[in-house]
Amino acid sequence: MSKPFDGAISAYFDKKAPKEIREAIRRADKDDILSPSYPYSEEMKGKAYDKQMQALQIELMKLQRHVKASGARVAILFEGRDAAGKGGTIKRFRENLNPRGARVVALSKPSDTEATQWYLQRYIDHLPAGGEIVFFDRSWYNRGVVEKVFGFCTEAQREHFFAQVPDFEKMLVEEGIKLFKFWLNVGRAEQLRRFLERESDPLKQWKLSAIDVDGLKLWDEYGAAIHETLSRTHSAAAPWTVIRSDDKKRARIEAIRHVLTHLDYDNKDARNVGVPDPKIAGGPEVWDG
Ligand code: ADP
Ligand code: AMP
Ligand code: MLT
Repeated sequence: MSKPFDGAISAYFDKKAPKEIREAIRRADKDDILSPSYPYSEEMKGKAYDKQMQALQIELMKLQRHVKASGARVAILFEGRDAAGKGGTIKRFRENLNPRGARVVALSKPSDTEATQWYLQRYIDHLPAGGEIVFFDRSWYNRGVVEKVFGFCTEAQREHFFAQVPDFEKMLVEEGIKLFKFWLNVGRAEQLRRFLERESDPLKQWKLSAIDVDGLKLWDEYGAAIHETLSRTHSAAAPWTVIRSDDKKRARIEAIRHVLTHLDYDNKDARNVGVPDPKIAGGPEVWDG
């Protein structure tokens, strides 16, 4: 079977990856968490996950009913390094929701026309109408991180973005939109493990891109751009919620739980929502590279 990008991911793993990263991946069992700073050593067990997820799904149904009945508008944006688990987390949020009213917005790189527009303009078209929950799989934060790392924008454009974004988000919130900003944090070894899996699994190969391959050697550049972005755009009106996502199961649960905890809806059952785990989800201080 041919591998995407001529096997660039496994070639990186064999020849270029830092030794401790390579060894961590080689040594690990399937359930082992690879990041040394992660607060748990193993993935959450499937049974506990299924039970909690089931309860959270029931609450999400109540939330959507409330959003539709009240005409509320909810926007949830997902950011994170490549392979952090953005798409998979959104999928679990939407698993049982009526898709009419739970849209995903995953925009491609700006077209030639869009590139001449105000940077935030094309995102505005996709903001929720009354009764909608909109999931942004990547967002305007491309300008803070990937566009910086790959030089897709100028420094002046990026500064302009940082000058505008806090006011822009404040306007959304004052307008009544419930805005959530998730940063999914994934460690270097775990990211590489996921890339290797994507390279060898025909059902996952579509997820690999040239950006992922070229980004392998830009870990630290990404880190600097992320740190700057989180600190310059974490505001009282629109704070970041950082989720440690080395364990996908815990990450999905805590993301859903966070939204349910912060929104009011009829018949909320606190036992179903459960108690947030501050070791997994928190503010920018949770981010560790
Ligand atoms: P994803 O990880 O979302 O599947 P990629 O890894 O290919 O997608 O790209 C990461 C992000 O970088 C995407 O949001 C994409 O639109 C953006 N991007 C890629 N090329 C460019 C470009 N030339 N200019 C601006 N943004 C770009
Ligand atoms: P705190 O939540 O105040 O303990 O802050 C933890 C870290 O989050 C700080 O070191 C900052 O880098 C970042 N942070 C918190 N609040 C803000 C803010 N309003 N603006 C920018 N960065 C912040
Ligand atoms: C993710 O896993 O974060 C998303 O699916 C995006 C990707 O990295 O391809």
